Amino acid sequence: MSQKTARWWPGNLALFLVIILSPGISAAENADQAPTLQSIEQDRNTLMLEPESPPARTIAEVFYLILGIVAVIFLLVFVPLLWMLFRFRMRKEDEGIEPPQIYGSNPIELAWTIGPAIIVFVLFLVTARSIFEIEAAVPPHDAVHVRVIGHQWWWEYEYPDYGFITANELHAPLGKDGSPRPVYLDLESADVIHSFWVPQLAGKTDVIPGRINHLWFAAEKPGWYKGQCAEYCGTQHAHMWLRVKSESDQDFAEWVANEQRDAVADPAVAVGRNLFLENACANCHTIRGTSAQGKFAPDLTHLMGRKTIASGILPNTRDYLLRWVRNPQTLKVGCHMPDMKLTQREVEKIVDYLVTLQ
Ligand code: CUA
Repeated sequence: MSQKTARWWPGNLALFLVIILSPGISAAENADQAPTLQSIEQDRNTLMLEPESPPARTIAEVFYLILGIVAVIFLLVFVPLLWMLFRFRMRKEDEGIEPPQIYGSNPIELAWTIGPAIIVFVLFLVTARSIFEIEAAVPPHDAVHVRVIGHQWWWEYEYPDYGFITANELHAPLGKDGSPRPVYLDLESADVIHSFWVPQLAGKTDVIPGRINHLWFAAEKPGWYKGQCAEYCGTQHAHMWLRVKSESDQDFAEWVANEQRDAVADPAVAVGRNLFLENACANCHTIRGTSAQGKFAPDLTHLMGRKTIASGILPNTRDYLLRWVRNPQTLKVGCHMPDMKLTQREVEKIVDYLVTLQ
């Protein structure tokens, strides 16, 4: 080992260890600043392989097929390789003797060109068939339609058939008999390219400004499904989460009926409501039934119907709402809601109002 190499590797080893350990370090540092739901909910990285909707199932099948084929190729290469390393290793009696030198072999060249070409072609056909199978699905008459608009850094959902808008938590009904019911999404962007991805339900689909992309899923069970923006879209890309709540037809109908109503106007919190409407809050947020008609930020008409805030990263509790309204930049650095420089009393009054928005 030359001196240069010798000095090189301990430094790189240290760098390697820093990179490997840094997620733990930064998670510990951030624990105070923004204790997100990541530490509250059990997080799994294998969701893609636990499909609960037809498109996700098709993708997982293709994954396992390809994994199987490459596993066979791996064994075909490495078992003979290991055997040859051992069988033809240099021995004492071989010293000074060169092995036979072979220059090209037509049969071998043909075999390792045509073989892989056939494998790649088969994988191409399987993948193409799956893509067409998913994309060609025709919406049945009872399909639910949702317009999804990606924003930096949250999701807007419009239910055109029911006439309301909500954010971050998408509700999807099962069929009347509990069977999977397809949900068809039109994906649009208000700013930059995002990507809508709920691994257990469907493949990721880009959300591109100036065009409408489509995606569908049909959850097979009731429950919550976690998703994440899957295309880097700026500072808070990693915190652009989403959730899909698959629920019974009846629960969905109740949710829709509530969402369709204008916001409650509880006289007990009139002070907070007026502060909300007088301050810049109303320029960005909509609260139906009031003069707040902003379109830039999430619709808050039924804010308390959601279990999270800040695009799914924080529990929707009074405590977090207080911290959020006080200064969102402490919880989601770089988000487009500024520190409104409100007094503590104003913050409390506004949150008193917000928590009535059932
Ligand atoms: Cu939106 Cu990444």
